[in-house]
Amino acid sequence: MDKIVIEGGQPLNGNVRINGAKNAALLIQCAALLGDTACTLRHLPNLSDVRTMGKLLAYLGCDVSMVDTHTMRIDPRGVRDGELEAPYDTVKTMRASVTVMGPLLARYGRARVSLPGGCAIGARPIDQHLKGLEALGAEIQLENGYVVLQADRLRGGAFVFDKVTVGGTQNVMMAATLAKGTTRLENVAREPEVEELARFLNKMGAKISGAGTSVIEIEGVDNLTGIEHAVIADRIEAGTLAIAAAITRGDVLLEDAPVDHMHATIAKLEEAGVECRVEPDGLRVLGPDEIRPIDVSTRPYPGFPTDMQAQFMVLALCANGQSLITETIFENRFMHVPELARMGGDVKVNGNSAVIRGPSNLMGATVMATDLRASASLVVAGLVAQGVTEVRRVYHLDRGYECIEERLRPLGARIRRLSGARA
Ligand code: UD1
Repeated sequence: MDKIVIEGGQPLNGNVRINGAKNAALLIQCAALLGDTACTLRHLPNLSDVRTMGKLLAYLGCDVSMVDTHTMRIDPRGVRDGELEAPYDTVKTMRASVTVMGPLLARYGRARVSLPGGCAIGARPIDQHLKGLEALGAEIQLENGYVVLQADRLRGGAFVFDKVTVGGTQNVMMAATLAKGTTRLENVAREPEVEELARFLNKMGAKISGAGTSVIEIEGVDNLTGIEHAVIADRIEAGTLAIAAAITRGDVLLEDAPVDHMHATIAKLEEAGVECRVEPDGLRVLGPDEIRPIDVSTRPYPGFPTDMQAQFMVLALCANGQSLITETIFENRFMHVPELARMGGDVKVNGNSAVIRGPSNLMGATVMATDLRASASLVVAGLVAQGVTEVRRVYHLDRGYECIEERLRPLGARIRRLSGARA
């Protein structure tokens, strides 16, 4: 198994280009199922999750091919006679697989999708996805750990989400594009990845309005056409690299950073004293002499993103004073805390809040990645820690960050990957 080895203490300086957004890419890959012809998706990040989604689409009968490292062509014309099933082994490695449900049901009249079960960061049910699809006329049964959905043709309906869910909003929105009549969805997620998916679907011929607000209306159409599309830049990758620049007291230009999607992250960085300059080419981040403590509470967009919480904890560890971080989206998302404690971090968790006392003199240690964003926080911590940090179970990191060591090394970080037998 690969591991990442970091010798901390080097300030990061220079330019780095932000990759395509993983969470937008995965959903757009699912949406390609809805078309009558092939889609060509550009600016996809080269990540294991994107490849896993490609494999699932191929399993469903799509003709999937890589045009180059960041471009995938998906032709769904072979799906009709296929299994229409997302199997357990795929769903358990990548939860986003459940969002093939809406497109399969809308386009092919049925779907069989493994229930995801819990994952490292919490229970993560899909009740809202199912209730929303039911409101469009889906018949739903549970069979041996699988959800089986059926509908001759979905019909437009009204649905108010009990809880703001990104995946739930996207799944039901995709299904509604081909329903007969108009659908109104309330209390939907407003994340940029929802807006991006709506933009993509509208380019295919869908009629969606309101994406980016809390009410979305979809006028069903009879068919959608394959298109070419370039995916938006990743606000979480940009935020993670911003923290790395800030805590190493560096000066980094995040080229193409989607600053319009990063207001909450930038506001908290500035509160901590980090200088963030919006420049024509992207976001320039300059680490301050003194980092100030922060209070952060995760919220649905446009609030502070849960996917940045672990990385901000490292910023808080470098701050002069006491910070408070509250996690309100997922119930078990502090798994990076014991690992950061092994590096010398002073963090006390009480329920869904963590009190962080800085500044910590972080020391290099061997640490274990437990989930995607937790592993990013450990890499970032390794960049400021004294001595050598070894991050193990790097496969979590590789799900969401494209060769992170190759992004950080040109900026001056002493970081390398030891692969396979050498690790
Ligand atoms: C997406 C992102 C993930 C991010 C999360 C929150 C993708 C591929 N992943 O995940 O990186 O951390 O949004 O911003 O885009 N919930 C229910 N019932 C449901 C659905 C969700 O109770 O039917 C709960 C979840 O357990 C969680 C909360 O709602 O507590 C938010 O989850 P949701 O927004 O659905 O997250 P994902 O779409 O899975």
